[in-house]
Amino acid sequence: MMRLDKMLSNLKYGSRSEIKNYARQSRITVNGETIKDSDISIDPLKDQVMIDGELVFYRESIYLMMNKPMGVICASVDDMYKPYTTLIDAPFNRFDLNVCGRLDVDSEGLIVLTNDGEFLHKVISPKHDIYKTYYVTLRDPLSSYQSLEKGVMIKDGAERPYLTKPAKIFDVSKNTCRISISEGKFHQVKRMFEFIGNEVKNLKREKIGLLDLDKALLPGDYRELTAIELELILKNE
Ligand code: URA
Repeated sequence: MMRLDKMLSNLKYGSRSEIKNYARQSRITVNGETIKDSDISIDPLKDQVMIDGELVFYRESIYLMMNKPMGVICASVDDMYKPYTTLIDAPFNRFDLNVCGRLDVDSEGLIVLTNDGEFLHKVISPKHDIYKTYYVTLRDPLSSYQSLEKGVMIKDGAERPYLTKPAKIFDVSKNTCRISISEGKFHQVKRMFEFIGNEVKNLKREKIGLLDLDKALLPGDYRELTAIELELILKNE
């Protein structure tokens, strides 16, 4: 159970006092009945709430997968680039969605967005060792990459020396390969290939845990994840 005014203010319909006024103005119905007081207790998962005749969409937790396009930044505000939040439409834009493992502005592919802090932590925490898989296009043909499979010294986001965990490299073909890593230091994949004297020209995240990016999602598209897909994220091969 939850207070109606709390639910509606969490969903950004207005401040509690604005919502109180909406109720006084007979603009809110619960299960078809106009209510006059917004401090009533409701079951947000069962009761049907409408404002000005429009159904209020409620979920405790939201989980989306998005195919992040190049040029979009994994920040909610930015002066230079388009933030990912601008790609999210109603009703999901009423929720405070964070990115589970950011991608650089010039990288593309799978990002998972959620308002579930615990889930987000599990996905990004090194303790849980969730592998993220990237399709990499390189400047030069790939050779002698064994050091990446052992671990190399790169700089982390704070420019401190950082020893990477062993990466899995596969599907090697001339200037492309796939790499799976269970960490997400700033520019990590780029810095790892820099270590072996190469340069990442294009980076696409295809997979988190066992969850593949839905190929039907065009860059900028997103959709909700199913319960089964959420479990796949937290699994490794
Ligand atoms: N590694 C990078 O260098 N960039 C990304 O966007 C993701 C992983």
